[in-house]
Amino acid sequence: MDYRLKLIGYPIQHSLSPWIHNKFLERTHLKGTYTLHEISPDASFDENVLTLKKEKVDGFNVTVPYKEEIIPYLNMLDDTAKQMGAVNTVVYREGKWIGYNTDGIGYLRSLESKYPTFFQNKSKRILLIGAGGAARGIYYALDRAGFDCIDIANRTKASAEEIAKLATLSSNTKVVSLKEAEEGIGNYDLIIQTTSVGMKPNVDTSILSFSQVKENAIASDIVYQPLQTKFLKEAEKNGAAIHYGHTMLLYQAQYAFEIWTNQKVPMDDLDLQLQTILE
Ligand code: ATR
Repeated sequence: MDYRLKLIGYPIQHSLSPWIHNKFLERTHLKGTYTLHEISPDASFDENVLTLKKEKVDGFNVTVPYKEEIIPYLNMLDDTAKQMGAVNTVVYREGKWIGYNTDGIGYLRSLESKYPTFFQNKSKRILLIGAGGAARGIYYALDRAGFDCIDIANRTKASAEEIAKLATLSSNTKVVSLKEAEEGIGNYDLIIQTTSVGMKPNVDTSILSFSQVKENAIASDIVYQPLQTKFLKEAEKNGAAIHYGHTMLLYQAQYAFEIWTNQKVPMDDLDLQLQTILE
């Protein structure tokens, strides 16, 4: 089998996905290619998707701004993609185009690879900051993994409330303001930053202050450019353990590759290799 894999989105010229998936192909000794298929906003999305389908690619990733737009072109969605209303991975299987969303599981895997013991107690208190697509995926994965003490804080409270609707019945999910989250920061065992605040080059503020953070709490930022966000620097300075954003990128790709090829790639030192590229 010669796997033909692609990435669609715009802009994608600087995407790290080809680097990651080519490493996976090397590591698994599978034959194949992972290439970019950029679709400019002026082009016809319809025609581009039809081209991909005609080319009979085996699978593709979908990134911004097409994660929702792709859905009507698919024959089936897995449960997570349905709940997210967004697809980042498509596989061609037995004549059908099937959509998945690997972000949430990717996040969990990345956390588990670095902090396996965190998963031993599902009553750990978690603060999720932000309420965009990534936050939604992470919330859903954490909730379904059994974590039942999650607070969601977002600048716009209504979006956090939308995410809280995904909660299973036994969950103690609460929506809190950013101010309340900051005041109660010492209560949390894991604090996850999913907003785009840390990506803005000229913004030198963290989304909240860590001065009261609990010792041994984990601070996790899904932003990976820069690798060392202000959020992580502040957290580390105040004694928290750190979880970098690029690891989520790697593990959501690992899960996508598994969907395409049925092979779970051993990650070994890939996170350090990617870290070196990003530093
Ligand atoms: P994605 O889907 O990639 O996760 P998004 O939908 O653009 O990204 O979500 C961005 C998140 O960053 C949102 O939670 C947004 O808060 P709002 O819902 O209030 O817009 C948050 N965000 C962006 N800029 C922010 C800022 N300056 N301060 C606080 N939150 C911010």
